[in-house]
Amino acid sequence: MDRKVLLKKDMKEKQELVNIILDRYLPRKDEYPKGIHKALRYSVFAGGKRLRPYLTMSAYQIYEKEVEKVTPVAAAIEMLHTFSLIHDDMPDLDNDEYRRGKQSTHAVFGEGAALLAGDALLVGAFELITYAEIKPKVRVQMVRELARETGVHGLIGGQMVDIESEGKKADKKTIDYIHENKTAKLIKLCLRFGALAGGAPADEQQALEEYGHKIGLAFQITDDLLDIEGDPDEMGKTVGKDAHVQKATYPSVYGLAESRRKAQELIAQAREALAPLGDRALILDIVAEHLLTRKT
Ligand code: IPE
Ligand code: IPE
Ligand code: MG
Ligand code: MG
Ligand code: MG
Repeated sequence: MDRKVLLKKDMKEKQELVNIILDRYLPRKDEYPKGIHKALRYSVFAGGKRLRPYLTMSAYQIYEKEVEKVTPVAAAIEMLHTFSLIHDDMPDLDNDEYRRGKQSTHAVFGEGAALLAGDALLVGAFELITYAEIKPKVRVQMVRELARETGVHGLIGGQMVDIESEGKKADKKTIDYIHENKTAKLIKLCLRFGALAGGAPADEQQALEEYGHKIGLAFQITDDLLDIEGDPDEMGKTVGKDAHVQKATYPSVYGLAESRRKAQELIAQAREALAPLGDRALILDIVAEHLLTRKT
């Protein structure tokens, strides 16, 4: 099968499995208090790519064929990611009214409901992990690591420096900190969780994490590039906004050409990291290749 076709088909299948878990976990729209459940479902089912859960499930599948056991973990990561997007769009952060091809959550439901929907997804992610049918010890480890990598030493720390750097000339150290923390740590964790749940041997676990780290950094560089060169209709979010508000982005520090080169280099390194896994990592290799040319 053609590599692209294979990726598309496999992504669709895994997206459906994740969506089933999310649908089961989230309260119905008409359940009291309706406002919050509507906002939650609106953002979760707005049409995200589901890249992060896909990475967890794909890493797990290198070791275990049936992905059902790890799907709650994958869905939990997607919930946490969606929380970060809802809050990222709010007026005091990026102030964006367009997300996942629709109006942002706060634009539809108001800031109060958006804030609370984000909060609910954040705490819900930790609850959902505890239901996964994997060793209790591993589950505890996941809860701890997810908190650690998305708190002040991770995603939230990265987001803080991101907003603090707005309107200033960022240096290389700052942009590295932002990319590492707001984006790469969670993506790396997706691979780590898949490997942990699947019982990967230590050397392969490390190879998968190295891959995750590199694609995570490349993912945010590409996101910054797409904010300049992307098509808003295809991406389902605003473009041109970063330059407008003088965001600290990779292109603002390194320029376009160097940013593209760096993304290419990171993707090449990510693919090299997979070498010890051989054909078993085929799908992850295709993902890495795809991330370089992604339009959404
Ligand atoms: C957007 O993530 C936020 C970043 C970390 C760049 P995605 O591009 O994965 O967003 P969705 O989930 O597909 O909407
Ligand atoms: C998002 O970075 C990082 C998050 C953790 C949400 P951006 O602010 O660049 O993401 P987009 O471009 O709004 O999706
Ligand atoms: Mg942001
Ligand atoms: Mg943003
Ligand atoms: Mg962006």
